[in-house]
Amino acid sequence: MSDLQSRIEGLWAERDTIDIDDADVIATVHEAIDRLDTGTARVAEVGADGGVVVHQWCKYAVLLLFKISKMATVENGPFEYADKIPLKHDYMARGVRVVPGAQARWGSYQAPGVVMMPSYINIGAHVDENTMVDTWATVGSCAQIGRNVHLSGGVGIGGVLEPAQAAPVIIEDECYIGSRCIVAEGARVGEGTVLGAGAILTRSIPVIDVETGDEISRGEIPSWCVAVAGTRPRTFTGGEFGLPAVLVIKRLTEGERHDKSALNDILRDHGAAT
Ligand SMILES: CC(C)(COP(=O)(O)OP(=O)(O)OC[C@H]1O[C@@H](n2cnc3c(N)ncnc32)[C@H](O)[C@@H]1OP(=O)(O)O)[C@@H](O)C(=O)NCCC(=O)NCCS
Repeated sequence: MSDLQSRIEGLWAERDTIDIDDADVIATVHEAIDRLDTGTARVAEVGADGGVVVHQWCKYAVLLLFKISKMATVENGPFEYADKIPLKHDYMARGVRVVPGAQARWGSYQAPGVVMMPSYINIGAHVDENTMVDTWATVGSCAQIGRNVHLSGGVGIGGVLEPAQAAPVIIEDECYIGSRCIVAEGARVGEGTVLGAGAILTRSIPVIDVETGDEISRGEIPSWCVAVAGTRPRTFTGGEFGLPAVLVIKRLTEGERHDKSALNDILRDHGAAT
């Protein structure tokens, strides 16, 4: 891996002058994308100290892939597309359920047990075991989604490609992200947390603990809590208006499943997941 990493870093350093038709260049970049595709490399992860570790060379590989790839027409029945990046294959062998209408790009990873309702997963994204990507949910490039997560219908997980050192969105294990939430700009949702429908979380959005009134962070929701969309008052010259905030309304004990998010487990246990 470290050899591959140094070869990618070398190509990145020379990216303005590399020959995009050179067979070695293409093979090196494709080898790295295959690692992302099989989950043997990933763009980011939570480190032992709880901080986010970004593997920049993986992002370089994705950016280099766009640079060296040529547009191609793809046809599927009456549909025609023109793109540089192929779609994934071999879902059966990977133990991933893919409902018609779902799409994932080569270089994204879905672990065994993942269910993709008609949804979209972009390159560099990593979706871990038994996670449900529900209808019209989109997982942006390089986003990292943990195990046993439910991304409800219409959830928009933002992609973060550049700058290479920027941390992508991280949704940790066991989270339940309610319908139509937007989580973008490298925001992070801690393990086991329930985010109520319709919340917006970016690195600009304050996360407020309603018990104390304290702003806990911008763009980071702690583990094991229930958080919902709210507002905070802000005074402008034209008057006082509410700006979006995320409110932590309940703390859960570690390992506790919130009543409403347990519904998903019940459906899965009975094989009746959407
Ligand atoms: C966040 C959620 C789990 C809260 O459930 P809960 O802990 O049982 O909380 P309650 O319903 O008792 O609500 C607690 C308070 O938060 C408010 N609240 C609940 N959900 C909210 C939301 N999404 N946005 C803003 N406020 C919300 C309630 O109005 C309530 O206020 P009140 O105490 O003044 O009455 C739930 O409302 C939710 O959003 N579930 C996701 C549903 C969904 O997206 N399903 C996916 C289908 S694909």
